[in-house]
Amino acid sequence: MSKKVLVLKASPRKQSTGELATKWVVDTLKANYADDQVTVVDLATYSLPWNAEPYVPAAAPGEYVSEEVKAWSKEVSSADAVVVVVPEYNSSYPGVFKHAVDLLSTEWAGKKVVVVGYSPSGAFYVVPETTNLLTKVGAQVTAKLAVQSYVLGYEPKTGLSKDFANVANTDAQGNLVFALSTLH
Ligand SMILES: Cc1cc2nc3c(=O)[nH]c(=O)nc-3n(C[C@H](O)[C@H](O)[C@H](O)COP(=O)(O)O)c2cc1C
Repeated sequence: MSKKVLVLKASPRKQSTGELATKWVVDTLKANYADDQVTVVDLATYSLPWNAEPYVPAAAPGEYVSEEVKAWSKEVSSADAVVVVVPEYNSSYPGVFKHAVDLLSTEWAGKKVVVVGYSPSGAFYVVPETTNLLTKVGAQVTAKLAVQSYVLGYEPKTGLSKDFANVANTDAQGNLVFALSTLH
């Protein structure tokens, strides 16, 4: 059955590895689930205010003030499933991602989520950290994938790579296909 899948690029950097990793996820989804409706939210450009909400989300579910957070709430609520594409920053996830999660509450409850972490050292910390956070807010993490950036042709200074497409020839491709199957 076709699904509405939200792919969340959790890097705050423009022109980042995250763009390539997100494209990889979207392409793999489209190749395997052509009927899915796939939406990308890029936290590098998606506007989420830091100080606009007066209420504690869990104490006032859905009572948002800012139009941006209302739109974000609708984006998550309307998705059948979410794929979080997240880089490791200082042994955890980027702050913008934590903020995006914290702004909402009941929207995450029962939501099926796949975590795709990447970093040069193998996303060893960010995958469990992200899983813990999403579990805390009630999401159901159905699969986790830790991608070692160098395998994908990572370039350390910019994070960009000309060879990222080579991921299609690695074990990571099969692991991603399996992970995405848990959402269907
Ligand atoms: C602030 C910051 C902290 C980082 N900390 C780590 C780290 O703890 N472990 C790691 O393996 N890579 C770390 N890196 C490297 C990133 O994981 C790597 O550059 C990744 O490709 C960044 O993804 P992005 O370009 O999509 O933001 C860090 C990068 C930044 C910008």
